[in-house]
Amino acid sequence: QWTTSSIVDEQVALIKKQVGDGKAICGLSGGVDSAVAAALVQRAIGDRLTCVFVDHGLLRAGERAQVERDYVAATGVKLVTVDARERFLGALAGVTDPERKRKIIGREFIRVFEQAERDLKAEGDYRFLVQGTLYPDVVESGGGAGTANIKSHHNVGGLPDDLQFELVEPLRALFKDEVRRVGTELGLPETIVQRQPFPGPGLGIRIIGEVTAERLEILRKADAIAREELTSAGLDNQIWQCPVVLLADVRSVGVQGDGRTYGHPVVLRPVSSEDAMTADWTRLPYDVLERISTRITNEVAEVNRVVLDVTSKPPGTIEWE
Ligand code: XMP
Repeated sequence: QWTTSSIVDEQVALIKKQVGDGKAICGLSGGVDSAVAAALVQRAIGDRLTCVFVDHGLLRAGERAQVERDYVAATGVKLVTVDARERFLGALAGVTDPERKRKIIGREFIRVFEQAERDLKAEGDYRFLVQGTLYPDVVESGGGAGTANIKSHHNVGGLPDDLQFELVEPLRALFKDEVRRVGTELGLPETIVQRQPFPGPGLGIRIIGEVTAERLEILRKADAIAREELTSAGLDNQIWQCPVVLLADVRSVGVQGDGRTYGHPVVLRPVSSEDAMTADWTRLPYDVLERISTRITNEVAEVNRVVLDVTSKPPGTIEWE
């Protein structure tokens, strides 16, 4: 019987064998896969694992704290956070093209991570790099013939050819639901294990137009409200994810109290999906939509309109960029 605890025991034994008394580095994204991979490796080699978390400033409200506080509390893992917010904002200044944004974010991410690796290597012999690669990732990067490049996913094919690490990939044989069960078995918090997908380029590709600190702040507030209301309505398990998108270059006229407003719209993009390859727009209950809309327009001063995206994938993609 292939139980979750037997997967854990088997992977821990394999990691011990591979890493021996060596040291390993793992980049945490805040997502499920890297969190579970790191927790497995940590169980195998303890504090000879160091995790690196890059804050690129494109995170949602509370995400950095979730990693720094909740994840560390649950695992006791050694964590280095690199604050690269200024660097990413600088690199993105003036950029509006979606593919350019994605390429810039991917490139800066690798640079920052490589610098963190070099700093760590100076302190000790870190020979191993932990990756949260899943079975579907392995299959996709092996096949792929005939698949058009619709969007450049920042974490696929990003490894340099002269990689100076040996890879440790304890999730290579697992599917997402198995990874979640392993995470639970390892004692990770529900907020991490049940997290919905979030793109590597983060809020950078949910601001249509240039990414600035002010716009990020607006989107972060609107996104936090939508997530709060979906969670309190008990809908998290029924939707795949619900991006909130800021149409930063669009303005429309509204009225609030006695005055005219001239603000930005945000788009709610709730989708249902099995694997993100195709998706349908989720028929959210009207009362939930109403609460989200009322709260966002009341609590986020710069937003005066909330609109709903009713496009499936295809022809739309899930993210707007
Ligand atoms: P699209 O927009 O292509 O998104 O329909 C499909 C799924 O992938 C997520 N996504 C990403 N995930 N890096 C990631 O790790 C990325 O660059 C990226 N772009 C999109 C998206 O949130 C959805 O779940």
